[in-house]
Amino acid sequence: MKYSDFGLVNTREMFVDAIARKYAVPAFNFYNMETLTAILAAARKMHSPVILAASESAIKYMGDDMLLGLITGACITPTERIALHLDHGHSLDACIHAIELGFSSVMIDASNLPFDENIKLSRAVAKYAHRHNVSVEAELGVLSGIEDENTSATDSSYTDPDAALEFVRATGVDSLAVAIGTSHGVYKCKSADEKLRFDILRKIEKKLPDFPLVLHGASSVHPKFLEIINSYGGKIKHACGIDEKQLSRAAKTNICKINVDSDLRLGFTAAVRKTIKESPDTFNPRDYLANAIKYMTETCTYEITHKMHSKNKA
Ligand code: G3H
Ligand code: 13P
Ligand code: ZN
Repeated sequence: MKYSDFGLVNTREMFVDAIARKYAVPAFNFYNMETLTAILAAARKMHSPVILAASESAIKYMGDDMLLGLITGACITPTERIALHLDHGHSLDACIHAIELGFSSVMIDASNLPFDENIKLSRAVAKYAHRHNVSVEAELGVLSGIEDENTSATDSSYTDPDAALEFVRATGVDSLAVAIGTSHGVYKCKSADEKLRFDILRKIEKKLPDFPLVLHGASSVHPKFLEIINSYGGKIKHACGIDEKQLSRAAKTNICKINVDSDLRLGFTAAVRKTIKESPDTFNPRDYLANAIKYMTETCTYEITHKMHSKNKA
């Protein structure tokens, strides 16, 4: 299928607008009807562009046909400015598969490979994707934490600005994920006072003026969800996310895509735990899943308003 048949757009014009008007397009991960419903409800209510992100493991979990059924059922129109994006694709084959399914944007994440191999693979993906008018994100620098069920990076190494320039020139990718202090998952820091490296970001922006940059691992790990989870039988201790004021500041720079997954997972889990505990007689999944959609919709709405500044930008 062509992505335009689903009413989807690629991310190119979104990012030009995001840089010009100083906001970031939210990329929220989805993996079932509930997550997709919540993301779309918030984006539509707030008139925000949005990137629907699905990792390789999320695609496997849904299955190709179910994923396409969900996207078809979402009745997306091009004026809504919605992209369907492969998050952390690890091979050319994974990117080709996503493009053949109807994804409008792909990420090739070869950041764990040596620089030259990262360039080689990212360039090959860009060459293939551009023939289909699909936009391509690559990554340079390594974020600590779990990036996917199958891969983990243990050490943080910030993106080198000179290498970023060389990488973008050599690959022809459309956007670059940079490492400036964020990481995946819910254990990102020892305290919320830890600062993102805006000094490194400024140097990258100087080398690559007006080039779209991407921030992964940008969940704030809202204490209210941790409190609910832990007081209703969960055990997620010492979790810590990125301060939302720092993300709000980042959204006004050339960071034009900010990725959030863990905050939705926490909202989903908080709602399910609370509803099941408070209504021990319920055995209708629609009771607790409806609350999960509500918590996640509120989370996406909050992110759009307070971090991304993407309200009314669709
Ligand atoms: O950054 C990775 C995303 O949070 C996706 O994680 O592979 O468990 O779907 P996943
Ligand atoms: P979080 O784990 O901080 O939500 O990051 C999500 C992400 O980067 C998806 O690619
Ligand atoms: Zn990521």
